Amino acid sequence: MIFSPVKGGGRGGRTRITRRAAVAAVGVVALLTAGACGSSDDNGGGSGSTKVEVFTWWADGGEKAGLDGLVKQFGTDCAGQTFENGAVAGGAGANAKSVLASRLQQGTPPDTFQAHAGAELSDYILAGQVEDISADYDAWGLKQAFPQGLIDNLTVEGKIYSVPANIHRANVVWTNKKVLADAGITKDPTDLAGFIADLEKVKAKGIKAPLAIGKDWTQLMLFESVLITDLGPEKFTGLWNGATDWNDPLVTKAINDFKTLLTYTNTDRDALDWTDAEKLVMDGKAGYQLMGDWEAADLDAKKFTDYAWFTFPGNGDTFQWLADSFVLPKGANNPEGTKCWLKTVGSAAGQKAFNTTKGSIPARTDAAPADYPKYQQAAMADWKSAKQVPSCAHGSACSQGWQGAANSALGAFSTKQDVPALQKALATAASQFVKK
Ligand code: GAL
Repeated sequence: MIFSPVKGGGRGGRTRITRRAAVAAVGVVALLTAGACGSSDDNGGGSGSTKVEVFTWWADGGEKAGLDGLVKQFGTDCAGQTFENGAVAGGAGANAKSVLASRLQQGTPPDTFQAHAGAELSDYILAGQVEDISADYDAWGLKQAFPQGLIDNLTVEGKIYSVPANIHRANVVWTNKKVLADAGITKDPTDLAGFIADLEKVKAKGIKAPLAIGKDWTQLMLFESVLITDLGPEKFTGLWNGATDWNDPLVTKAINDFKTLLTYTNTDRDALDWTDAEKLVMDGKAGYQLMGDWEAADLDAKKFTDYAWFTFPGNGDTFQWLADSFVLPKGANNPEGTKCWLKTVGSAAGQKAFNTTKGSIPARTDAAPADYPKYQQAAMADWKSAKQVPSCAHGSACSQGWQGAANSALGAFSTKQDVPALQKALATAASQFVKK
């Protein structure tokens, strides 16, 4: 399996754990053995809590539906434990991540939180904020359940730190079928020129902004898709591990192509979350939106059925992946309850309950496609054969610091449209954050 070669946010990053973090991880194991694995008699090692606060940004629509599925399964699996919803709304964790950072800093972590496999998870591991759960992987048989490539993205120095709930795909365009039919569009575009020609056709029907988009991170997603088209999957992946220079002329081309695409988008983009942009598609005010496949679940949850999808034009068979995973934070109140949550997340029943309503595909390899809606069945098939590349907007490719720098560079570009300035800002961010 190819899976993402980006480990720990950079070339060889996965093995570059600091000595301090390694020592912290050892201390953490000692703490865990002392308390977290206790019997129900000692009730989780001290706090006596039977509440499991689950911190996510899944507050609404398809995201909430997925979480609800998991919670239901948790109720079945973990008698005596109670789910407490710690969700902070805002797409891609735009608000949740800063709330989480301050709670971790203050030493008041939730019992578990959502973290993207790859570089984002490595941030928490290297900061010594999450526990090693390798022993639980053995106990729960999870090493055999997940693809090795995914396990590599959860591992630092041979230790595993989280349980993946899913695999999402980022490089998907969602469409309003009626808007496209009205414009006489009958085929999916396979390259940028074809896409732009179709955007023109929709525009000619009086739809001023045929391509709906939201603020910074959603713009970063669109830009990453354009980069995949213009650079190809190998060079794109190289942008995140130091093998590809951000000053490459192909990056300049991608920025110019992205600038062209922005001319077809809504001018209020910087004020919108992804669901606001999605509403433009649902309301027929736009024909297209580039978004991760949580959109399939959200459109279903909102009972909008007149949609279709295609891979971003020019991406070929590239599957830009990301994975939500759950951790046991250091200092969690109820480690025993959290472990039961994690076990549910990794179980076949938990993955089915979650992914059938979240738009993602199960991280486990033993799922039956027939149990899933049409979109996920297609994604499962693609996942097996496609070229896999990671996502910076959703933490599999880049650290949180790098992601923040990229988001603000995109935000500035949205206003100023200054091509050299964006390229320079992205090259500077790479030189600051890439792990060689
Ligand atoms: C991603 C997350 C997805 C989905 C999306 C939109 O970062 O991995 O599960 O929630 O944000 O909020």
